[in-house]
Amino acid sequence: MKEKLETYPDIQGISNRIVDLLRKTTNTPYSLALSGGNTPKRIFEKLTYKKISWNQIQFFWGDERCVPPDHSESNYKMAREHLFDRIKIQDHQIHRIKGENDPASEAVRYEKEIRNHLDQYRKLPVFDMIMLGLGEDGHTASIFPDQMYLLKSDKVCEIAIHPETGQKRITLTGPVIKKAKNILFIVTGKTKSKIIADIVYKRGDWKKYPASYITPENGELYWITDSEASSLL
Ligand code: 6PG
Repeated sequence: MKEKLETYPDIQGISNRIVDLLRKTTNTPYSLALSGGNTPKRIFEKLTYKKISWNQIQFFWGDERCVPPDHSESNYKMAREHLFDRIKIQDHQIHRIKGENDPASEAVRYEKEIRNHLDQYRKLPVFDMIMLGLGEDGHTASIFPDQMYLLKSDKVCEIAIHPETGQKRITLTGPVIKKAKNILFIVTGKTKSKIIADIVYKRGDWKKYPASYITPENGELYWITDSEASSLL
């Protein structure tokens, strides 16, 4: 597997590339898992101006904070404000992780919802596309360096704990992320330049970073970055 390293001058360029990849979709409905955090905000906004068959997409998340959907830290709230409220889609297209629920039962419920909507391959659901961010500690989704077992879990999603805040999260696990047809790491900013280079070139502490182990089984892996994040590549 050779990952595709792609650099764009700005958020507009990154958004245009994501549109290209979305437009390549053949099968419908198309299962797309969104990432959280801050990076996607401006990208989502740019996507709302593009001609995309939004009605063909089923929206999921790679991870969610265990908070209510109106909480400032909710990845669902971020997507609603920066994407869903600006495009025409039906509620049934949105499969949010219910952060307000008991985490253990929500992990079970969300796995069932994913399995009900996605094709399976060797007992695991296959997303058409998973968007991922990259933390400065090398985490992705909510798979943190002190919880590497989540990379090999036999469950589709599990509870994770943010190592600094102790906040509970629900995250897709390594095997289901790796099953996806298209895995997109979308990373911007100078602060991520060293860790991306360490991961891509397998240098420094790359073995300690969960993102280093996200290699697609049968699909494609894209590093979609801006010029700052890719400055050491
Ligand atoms: C989350 C994310 C997480 C995020 C990275 C990068 O719920 O926070 O899914 O994996 O993508 O921490 O976050 P930034 O885009 O804010 O740098």
